[in-house]
Amino acid sequence: MHEMKYRRLGSSGVRVSEICLGSWLTYGNATEDSAAESCIDRAYELGINFFDTANVYARGKSEEVVGRALKKYPRDSYVLATKVFFQMTDGPMPNNRGLSRKHIIEQCEASLKRLGVDYIDLYQCHRYDSETPLEETLRALDDLVTQGKVLYVGVSEWSAPQIAEAVRLQEKLNLDRLVSNQPSYSILNRYIERAVVPISSHYGIGQIVYSPLAQGILTGKYKPGQPLPADSRAADPKQNMFLNGGNLDQKVLEKVQKLHPIAEREGLSLAQLALAWCLRQENVSSVIIGASKPSQVHDNAGAAGHKLSEESIKEIDDVMA
Ligand SMILES: NC(=O)c1ccc[n+]([C@@H]2O[C@H](COP(=O)([O-])OP(=O)(O)OC[C@H]3O[C@@H](n4cnc5c(N)ncnc54)[C@H](OP(=O)(O)O)[C@@H]3O)[C@@H](O)[C@H]2O)c1
Repeated sequence: MHEMKYRRLGSSGVRVSEICLGSWLTYGNATEDSAAESCIDRAYELGINFFDTANVYARGKSEEVVGRALKKYPRDSYVLATKVFFQMTDGPMPNNRGLSRKHIIEQCEASLKRLGVDYIDLYQCHRYDSETPLEETLRALDDLVTQGKVLYVGVSEWSAPQIAEAVRLQEKLNLDRLVSNQPSYSILNRYIERAVVPISSHYGIGQIVYSPLAQGILTGKYKPGQPLPADSRAADPKQNMFLNGGNLDQKVLEKVQKLHPIAEREGLSLAQLALAWCLRQENVSSVIIGASKPSQVHDNAGAAGHKLSEESIKEIDDVMA
């Protein structure tokens, strides 16, 4: 039986499970509500205490499903993360998106209602807003912290210079500091290693990385030259718009199959290997997985605490080169 491991969220005091359960495209959307709740329950049983959602996922429905499922657990037993930035309504409403004080405060209230909680543990700016002064955004976030509606603030897919500028302003204005950034990171997408990770480590900002399985590609279930598995994200037109409409790169699929012997030697499934690979980075506080079935949560949770050998890390580089 595996044991969940926990890491500090950046240099903050709060501890999050190495595996976080997310809800993009799945809960409130492609996954039935009952299956969503089963996944969340399985995660909780396995020691996952960290759950990620966003106001924009299924335009609020994802937050509702996650909030309802977590309602049965003590509020102090889990860390709940959500986000603000993307457009929440159709039509020409000028203030229905972005990181203005107005939109942040209004959306935080709306998220609290949808989630059914009194406070959000981690409130994240889903993207950078170049049309709002950064100081306005950071002051609005700090006010939410002072009001007790938000405990920690983070960002998602901010560049190294944007993160550095935010920290500089927060120090200058004595505002609550960023604790995390949420970028994409996996064996197939390593861009953060160049600038985002070094600057974040310097400032005590942890990465909570998304799509660590490249949306399922790194589980090895998509076999080169074979039809897509019927119940997979790539085969589902409701979910495959960020997987090139299900038209996967055969060369990538071939490389992924070459990871099997490395996983076997480590005693891991391919999914676990891909997650353990992300967790080899000290600056990664947690990997955010998606799951359409409880069995996937179980498989993925098994990556926690596994330290890959230097030999395996090198071999993964060689296979992917
Ligand atoms: N901040 C951002 O901009 C941003 C962007 C994207 C995601 N995120 C966050 O990160 C979370 C994870 O993203 P993601 O869903 O792309 O992550 P992922 O873990 O790379 O992919 C998840 C999908 O892969 C399949 N899968 C997962 N585990 C599996 C296993 N063990 N065996 C076989 N298939 C498995 C499932 O899809 P099927 O069963 O349907 O094939 C699952 O929904 C999101 O839910 C969200 O919270 C954030």
